Amino acid sequence: MAALLKRLPLLLGLGALALIASSCTMLGLNYASLEVDNKPAPKPELAARTLDQWESGTTALKAAFETHVYGPWPDGLAVSFGETRRIDDAFGMLGHVEETPITLGEGDGARTFHLAVAYPNLDVAGPLPLVISQTFSSNCSVFPNIPITAPDGSTCDGSRMDGAVGFVARTIFGEYIAEVPIEDWFRQGVVYATFYASEIVPDSASSAPDALAGLRPPSGEPPTGALMAWAYGFSAALDLLETDARVDASRTAVMGHSRHGKAALMAGVWDSRVDAVIAHQSGFGGASLSRSTTGEGVKRITKSYPHWFAPDYGAYAGRLDDLPVDQHQLLALLAPTPVFLGNGRRDVWSDPNSSFRAAQAASDVYALYGSNGLEQPGLEAFAPAADLSFFLRPGGHGVDKRDIAGFLDFLDAHFGTPQPAMSADTSIAAER
Ligand code: GCU
Repeated sequence: MAALLKRLPLLLGLGALALIASSCTMLGLNYASLEVDNKPAPKPELAARTLDQWESGTTALKAAFETHVYGPWPDGLAVSFGETRRIDDAFGMLGHVEETPITLGEGDGARTFHLAVAYPNLDVAGPLPLVISQTFSSNCSVFPNIPITAPDGSTCDGSRMDGAVGFVARTIFGEYIAEVPIEDWFRQGVVYATFYASEIVPDSASSAPDALAGLRPPSGEPPTGALMAWAYGFSAALDLLETDARVDASRTAVMGHSRHGKAALMAGVWDSRVDAVIAHQSGFGGASLSRSTTGEGVKRITKSYPHWFAPDYGAYAGRLDDLPVDQHQLLALLAPTPVFLGNGRRDVWSDPNSSFRAAQAASDVYALYGSNGLEQPGLEAFAPAADLSFFLRPGGHGVDKRDIAGFLDFLDAHFGTPQPAMSADTSIAAER
């Protein structure tokens, strides 16, 4: 006891240091390490030497992610569409919005969300590439000042991100944390679809389980986790838009920030129609390695957000070596689909360093498809045309101008920029 008392100041000091260190990480005050060579290679090793070998194992690997990390992909869960409503004067001359309610499941447990699709007025040849974005905020905040439908069924009357809350959110998380700079996307010649994930499953540990119970596929599998249900939302949106003649179904990207970046990666794995993924700061449960000891970690993420995952995932927290999968394998399952991994140098919570190492390891599988995968030598050498494209900017967790520029560079490199059909007079370029 006396010995313990003697050590008490030291123990308290160490405790305080640990608290400060973890708060600095959470608050974005630390910098991600750029050093990757001195770290262990991700485990389990990606052992496939031929494409056949790799492809013969992908079904089992996806099943392992379903069992141990995310819960089942709700394959076959009914998707139905309500009536599409056109909002003409959404962006003046630049374009218009069409909004469609999409229902997942049937009967009492069914869930309806609103897909808002912004079409640019462009005089270009042929159908346009599509980006489907999943968001933290309702469509009211994504497209402020447009009379689209709020989650409660009423009509939006201005951004929910106005006022003090919006100001604080934008100051901390960047000006585009909710609102979308639609002119930038239109200039890139993109049809931009967006939906609010919480309309599918509320992002709350107490209310998500009820919603998830209603979203069980016909096979009767156990309820899935919220990330998987949100990922299925991308698929349902694709069901609607792949038959839209204005959209080029061979150039469709799914996109999300943070928790929705995790869901975007998953949609790319479980839905083969996805042609590109933009996963910004997806962190743990996304592109960062579960075995990494930097940043949030499996223990904290499963404690704070148990509803995102299969119950099994949290149980691995104290014995990560036993976890049968890790996230470099999730990236490998995306091969050869182009993937953008957005990162902030101060977003150590999301652990950019282990995301980079995951992409390095996944490159071996991209190579089996004849792709170079990650082409950049280090975290800062952004190569937008690479199939695994890692973007690191200064600053912390959030979405700002620099990120949008990175997303657009990546899209431009992989989907191209639509060319004017006849004269450029009616194009946005001429208008600006
Ligand atoms: C929390 C959570 C992360 C998540 C992030 C976000 O910080 O710990 O895992 O990615 O929220 O979604 O913004």
